[in-house]
Amino acid sequence: MFMSTPTLLIVDDEKNTREGLRAGLGEKFDVYVAEDAASAWNLLERESVDVLLTDLRMAGDDGIQLIARAKGLAKPPVCILMTAFGTEEIAVEAMKKGADDYISKGRLRIDELELRIQRALKRTALETENRQLHRRLDQKFGLQNLIGEAPGMRAVFELIQAVAPTRSTVLITGESGTGKELVAKAIHQNSPRARGPMITVNCAALPSTLLEAELFGHEKGAFTGAHERRLGRIEQAQGGTLFLDEIGEIDATTQVKLLRFLGEKTFERLGSSKTLSSDVRLVFATNKDLQALVAAGRFREDLFYRLAVFPIPLPPLRDRLQDLPTLCAAFIKEFAEENGKPIPNLTTAALEVLLQYSWPGNVRELRAAMERAVVMCREGHIQPQDLPQTVRTPNNRSQTTPSLELANAKPVTLKEAEKQLLIHALQEADGNRTLAAQKLGISRRTLHRRLHEFGLGDK
Ligand SMILES: Nc1ncnc2c1ncn2[C@@H]1O[C@H](COP(=O)(O)OP(=O)(O)OP(=O)(O)O)[C@@H](O)[C@H]1O
Ligand SMILES: [Mg+2]
Repeated sequence: MFMSTPTLLIVDDEKNTREGLRAGLGEKFDVYVAEDAASAWNLLERESVDVLLTDLRMAGDDGIQLIARAKGLAKPPVCILMTAFGTEEIAVEAMKKGADDYISKGRLRIDELELRIQRALKRTALETENRQLHRRLDQKFGLQNLIGEAPGMRAVFELIQAVAPTRSTVLITGESGTGKELVAKAIHQNSPRARGPMITVNCAALPSTLLEAELFGHEKGAFTGAHERRLGRIEQAQGGTLFLDEIGEIDATTQVKLLRFLGEKTFERLGSSKTLSSDVRLVFATNKDLQALVAAGRFREDLFYRLAVFPIPLPPLRDRLQDLPTLCAAFIKEFAEENGKPIPNLTTAALEVLLQYSWPGNVRELRAAMERAVVMCREGHIQPQDLPQTVRTPNNRSQTTPSLELANAKPVTLKEAEKQLLIHALQEADGNRTLAAQKLGISRRTLHRRLHEFGLGDK
């Protein structure tokens, strides 16, 4: 069931019991010991522990409290409670608080204990698998929070659905604010690892020496300031997904270590020569042109090819303006609800301003603009003056946007604005629906359906 030796944490205030158990179970498990709940908790926060075997009565928190807390961890251990006297009530209480099994110390035999631990581990693994399966079915096409119907986005959804179930390394590229992190999350959530952790590291946020320790971990004393052993993100992401953001920023040494990890799946903690392995799925993101960095000698070519096995390029917002009304509607709703306001209308005049802007900050910038607009707007109507100054300034405007005859400042709903967009596209295409649909980046069928919904259909 376990690829490596499971880790076991024994918590007991009596040294003899601790050491007796360690001696008895040390062959089958990687054993840690602690004398009370506080030091046990300290360790649980730092290390990934598979099994917690704890005494009931100790100084400070008791075993049941410790179990309750441990079950709140992202990757909770299998928990077994030991007590000196077996009473029904304690057993019931322990199970309620999350204990997986219960053992009376009075007749404790190592072989029986080992059997009970193995059984509990197996049961938990089966339950996890079962939950994963259900979740996978629930979420099969659950990319709800990623909005987009433009061809560029549909291609993205298809790529996500194709790659998520696999173990492939993914490279997400795109300008700032195009949704790279959202896509990384969608990949994790739609993968068989969804129940496992998703760990994110922003490679630009740390100086290179710290980044190395952050990723690979370090032993106590590996460098000045390394007061204790620390698990790296790669180890913490075991069984899940490791998302390395802004990968274009990593230095030469870390590039080499990463290359090795991608190839062999092995690494060492800083200050240790013990080779470790971790079962993680890697997702990378960058807003840099990695190929240009390779050409400039700042990024290893071999690493680039390893990363670029499955690229997902995200289109900038200005290339998918047909999604803008839907994105606006979603953000307006979100911020109205957050502020306890009724959902305001976006006036056609405001929509026109939004469609003329070039959006260098992409969806993030649009989202911020909508947050501001919801707060600023009066009487339930978002007007151009509620939009940020930069968005309204003409020289920031996109050259590529066709001008729309939407100057009418009369407040309308998004639905009405969409209707006007459809009419406009049809006019431009001289009534040719195939052409109009192409211009709008929607299928002819969708156009037909929409026209019908707006009472503009021919049947
Ligand atoms: N397709 C989308 N649908 C809905 N919201 C989106 C979409 N794309 C991005 N967003 C929102 O825009 C904001 C920015 O997205 P995200 O952080 O994923 O961008 P990014 O590409 O990682 O940016 P950066 O390169 O600056 O890190 C987030 O609030 C996100 O929820
Ligand atoms: Mg990001």
